[in-house]
Amino acid sequence: MNPASDTGLEASASSAPPATPPETLLTWPAEGLARIPFQVYNDPAIADAEQQRLFRGDIWNLICLEVEIPQPGDYRTNVIGDTPVVAIRGNDGLVRVFVNRCAHRGSMLCLDKSGNRKDFTCIYHNWVYDLEGSLQSIAFRRGIRGQGGLPEDFDPSQHGLKQLRMDIIGALVFASFSEKVPPVREWLGERMAWNVDRVVGRPVRIIGGYTQVMHNNWKLYIENVKDAYHAGLLHLFFTRFGLNRLSMDGAVEVSERGGHHLSWSKMHNDHTEGTEYSDGKLRSMKDFDLEDKRLLQSWVEHEDGITHMIQTIFPNVIIQQIQNSLAVRLLVPRGTDECELQWWIIGYADDTEAQMQTRILQSNLVGPAGLVSLEDGVIGSIVQRTTLQDPNRAGVVEMGGRTVESQKGRVSETGVRGFWQEWRQKMGV
Ligand code: FES
Ligand SMILES: [Fe+2]
Repeated sequence: MNPASDTGLEASASSAPPATPPETLLTWPAEGLARIPFQVYNDPAIADAEQQRLFRGDIWNLICLEVEIPQPGDYRTNVIGDTPVVAIRGNDGLVRVFVNRCAHRGSMLCLDKSGNRKDFTCIYHNWVYDLEGSLQSIAFRRGIRGQGGLPEDFDPSQHGLKQLRMDIIGALVFASFSEKVPPVREWLGERMAWNVDRVVGRPVRIIGGYTQVMHNNWKLYIENVKDAYHAGLLHLFFTRFGLNRLSMDGAVEVSERGGHHLSWSKMHNDHTEGTEYSDGKLRSMKDFDLEDKRLLQSWVEHEDGITHMIQTIFPNVIIQQIQNSLAVRLLVPRGTDECELQWWIIGYADDTEAQMQTRILQSNLVGPAGLVSLEDGVIGSIVQRTTLQDPNRAGVVEMGGRTVESQKGRVSETGVRGFWQEWRQKMGV
């Protein structure tokens, strides 16, 4: 059977007429990117528009790590915004990504998070698709004893699964509804792709993972990740034990359109770092200590000497290196006031046993109850509940200026402004 025509790409969703015309969706404050209107966190019309203009628009969406589906038939489900999708490795060894939906009446095809299958057999009426998405068989297609069944001219080749564009960089499998977005490496740009290669550019091993539900708009968490300013202030564990302080050598870098970012620092001693924290001008939880200091022991992960590197890939992917704790995170929106953060905690296939044990120990820094990232899981809801009442008021984002550009210091909100620059461009507001 020929490949179904519907396995080809549809026109970019972003070219379809939006449900709410952009001009009526939101009026951005006159101060531009120096202000973030609270409406963006609470308005259901904006959340709806994001599904079409962002997630089904001209971006790449992380689906899974390639190492999760090594064999033909291995699959991994996920969502792009609110659209269920499935990545599967075909018998030809290629990874394909489909909307996880039967072409008959729309039933979800793969109900599990992951597994292995010879084909896609729909549980509802037993239509069967091959791993390339072509419709292979239809239960009772000719009816029974000449009664019922499909019309003679029904063409199965027109009823395959909807296939998305797919691209892989390093360990990461991306998919897109868009025909227009350039390949992932080009879309990331040279500097952003450099760090993807740096962290996941060699064979990885998944140590574990979890999913964390947060009671805030997804964009509050993304802002938090891009907000280099907070990292050495909110996170007392970082400052107390000197893992990441604003006074260290570091930078915030933003991509050309603004939406991707890198925030990095190098751990030094107090002498090279300055005395802002040791003088007690900034809080650093002096009264607390660790009984077991093994958590603070690390090896130099990269020759560049960067000990702390957080990257965002627009709009909702995070790549993390905190000492030797490596992770990939994907943030999935769930309406206006809830989101789901998926974590892949990783090491490398060629790690020694001792290195793996250190990574496992250091993974205590992150996750829902992490010594560092616990605060990030709650700060969004603390903001969300006070933005509800005043959609026309706005947050102030002027640290490091009012524009979007890479900056040497990290006392800066340039990454946050960069996110909103690209969000506004994609959303048409
Ligand atoms: S909905 Fe899948 S076979 Fe009917
Ligand atoms: Fe944080």
